[in-house]
Amino acid sequence: MRRAAITAVGAYLPERTLTNADLERLVDTTDAWIVERTGIRERRILSRGKGSAYMAIQAAQQALQKRGLPAEAIDLVIVATVTPEHPFPATANIVSHAIGAHRAWGFDVEAACSSFLYALSVAADSIAAGRVQRVLVIGSDKMSSIIDYRDRATCVIFGDAAGAVLLEPTEEEVGVMDYLHQADGAGCAFLHMKAGGSVLPPSVRTVRNRLHFVYQEGRQVFKQAVIQMAEVSAALMRKHNLRPEDIAFFVPHQANRRIIEAAAERLGLPLEKVMLNIDRYGNTTSATLPLCLHDYESQLKKGDNLILTTFGGGFTWGALWLRWAY
Ligand code: UT7
Repeated sequence: MRRAAITAVGAYLPERTLTNADLERLVDTTDAWIVERTGIRERRILSRGKGSAYMAIQAAQQALQKRGLPAEAIDLVIVATVTPEHPFPATANIVSHAIGAHRAWGFDVEAACSSFLYALSVAADSIAAGRVQRVLVIGSDKMSSIIDYRDRATCVIFGDAAGAVLLEPTEEEVGVMDYLHQADGAGCAFLHMKAGGSVLPPSVRTVRNRLHFVYQEGRQVFKQAVIQMAEVSAALMRKHNLRPEDIAFFVPHQANRRIIEAAAERLGLPLEKVMLNIDRYGNTTSATLPLCLHDYESQLKKGDNLILTTFGGGFTWGALWLRWAY
């Protein structure tokens, strides 16, 4: 059976670090509150004049270099992002051109914090169907471009970064094994951006009223994130008779350390099996999952079972069973 395997991972983290101490000077918050309520200590911020394509290009090039492949070998580029370089064209086109993936077609996937997992699923299906051979799936978000640094409830959470995976076909029992995804549009009310789309295009009024930033009702999102990430992961594990002891690593979207701990506990997974890097990067939206794979790459072995899971605006959520291929 033909499957899609991850054969390389790349990442890009902007140099500038925004610490909790820096945020204490911007809004009414404390390092103690942020660490206790979110687990975040610092996050990275991309400089002005650079966008999500810049970070995506660096992450993609790193993945290609690690695999020793030229960009011409790529058939498809998918960029997962909620902060595209421009409203159109797709950031994927800008990235393909910049890295020299001249044979590739491409598009962006936007499903809030689930963007990367959905993009990975679509890419894996394309490979499994025999339509394409090599795909770059890149999660890149410059969250600082849509965060209100006067709103203490959101500005402490988010950061900028990109992560990329290279997918290639395999006949072995590794790669993307299965996934379960769900969405519920009723969740839009709790996590969205009010202006900048077709219903409320940018205007002096929308800018004055600060409507171009992330709007979040944190408690509602928190509650749903714990329940849905745990339930969808449990359903996927049940479907394939995977027990907690069969899982090498749980790879959750990094939105809040307390959400991650509660979801892992519901699944009966000890913390040493949970990939965690939220303390250093915060919530990087589409980049959290590939960044986790990048940071834990040296601890992974061929055949390891990973459960990737996410929850985000929409609401969108899902889980994917991945067998590590190298
Ligand atoms: O990735 C997409 C999905 N997003 C998520 O999964 C995020 C889910 N939500 C969360 O992570 C949490 O809800 C937050 C981190 C956003 C907020 O934490 P919380 O423990 O749910 O706090 P809360 O919203 O219930 O607020 C508790 C108190 C409030 O004060 P009062 O009304 O009790 O006086 C807030 O005003 O904490 C206050 N607060 C803060 N205090 C200090 C909110 N933000 C801050 C802050 N510093 N930065």
